[in-house]
Amino acid sequence: MTAGAGGRRTAGAGRTTGAGRTAGAGRTDRGDLEALVAAREIVVCCGPGGVGKTSTAAAIGTMAALRHGGRVLVVTVDPARRLATALGLSGIGNDATVVPPAALAGTGLTFRGQLEVAMLDTKQSWDDLVRRHAPDRRSAEEILANPLYENVAGRFVQSHDYIAAERLYELHLQGDYDLIVVDTPPSRNAIDFLEAPRRMAEFFSSRLLRWLVAPYRVRLVNLASRPFTQVADRILGSAFLADVTEFFLAFQGMYDGFVERAAAVQALLADPRTTFVTVSTLEPAARREAEVLMSELIARGLPLGALVLNKVLPGYLLDPAPAATAERLRADAAGVAATLLAAGPEGLPPDADERLVAGVLNEVAESYLGYRVVARREAEQRARLGALPSVVVSVPYLDQDVHDLASLVRLGEALFT
Ligand SMILES: Nc1ncnc2c1ncn2[C@@H]1O[C@H](COP(=O)(O)OP(=O)(O)OP(=O)(O)O)[C@@H](O)[C@H]1O
Ligand SMILES: [Mg+2]
Repeated sequence: MTAGAGGRRTAGAGRTTGAGRTAGAGRTDRGDLEALVAAREIVVCCGPGGVGKTSTAAAIGTMAALRHGGRVLVVTVDPARRLATALGLSGIGNDATVVPPAALAGTGLTFRGQLEVAMLDTKQSWDDLVRRHAPDRRSAEEILANPLYENVAGRFVQSHDYIAAERLYELHLQGDYDLIVVDTPPSRNAIDFLEAPRRMAEFFSSRLLRWLVAPYRVRLVNLASRPFTQVADRILGSAFLADVTEFFLAFQGMYDGFVERAAAVQALLADPRTTFVTVSTLEPAARREAEVLMSELIARGLPLGALVLNKVLPGYLLDPAPAATAERLRADAAGVAATLLAAGPEGLPPDADERLVAGVLNEVAESYLGYRVVARREAEQRARLGALPSVVVSVPYLDQDVHDLASLVRLGEALFT
């Protein structure tokens, strides 16, 4: 392999040592996410929409760069603007940006390695792909200039999902990174990402495509089809049909390359150097989708490494003792307020009368019991989870958005603990 791959091996060994040192502190109930990450070259964060995939990917990358060293790349898809700014991402672009060590200011931490981030640029990635597969520069430019190209690249084969996997393949092949953490697109369905390479291969080897191209070939040699084309163009407007056929014809020489490439992308996703981290919350819909996703991963022979249950309420809400206290407070807020005031009003505002204090106590108790109801529902959802990967990590609902390095470290410490 390349010199880069050699570098990866050396740095990778260092990372494993780093993880080994902290593994004792970082146990979950079943396994250890930190050790899993240290042992792999690619981490794919997948899961239902809005559960925290982007935050988790960024946090895993941050922790790896902090604790394990080496060159770590996080490929994000759609980070929230504040997070993108905090990471130094100036905008969309396939080029990686180094997260400046100064971004850790205030955390008291320093990177052992280097953290880099890139934001997936679907259009640019498609253009690169076309340039790579086209037989020559002119053919490539012809395709890129065809008005249909953007349409096809944008819609035909779940391009966003495919291009994320394709980009990952390219980066891994370059061998510059010890660890690549990939965030997956907010698909309607998380399985789309897994399906994308196979669909891409199928599309480019499909009869449909060959059939679409065929009339144009025939047309070139058989002028009899010309009137049809002209009529079709008149009905569909402009040179629509000509554009379509020319486009597919130009693409023709590239089919085999695309099919081969999509197969290689698929193989990398299934490689033991890769691990999938499924992220979910314990909301019923998300939990169900995550479960389907995990069984699909297993069914497809893809290496499911961990389940991250994000935004989970703290376990103490399930304890009966504080719940009983909250019940008691709610049942007799007035009585407790009276006792409190009778014991001496020190620490309370001068206008705090019995009614006011009782109102606050009642509100606090209600709120506690409300959270307890949600925590119980979460526990039920958790109990319903069937076959689980060997690493399952619960991450608490933080009291603020994950929008800077400090909050990524907080999230990351929960993930690696
Ligand atoms: N543990 C957490 N505690 C509090 N807020 C969180 C936590 N994890 C994520 N968030 C916040 O939840 C929101 C959604 O997170 P994120 O963008 O990472 O989700 P996503 O799965 O990538 O969404 P999408 O499917 O739209 O890409 C963000 O505002 C993020 O800051
Ligand atoms: Mg996201």
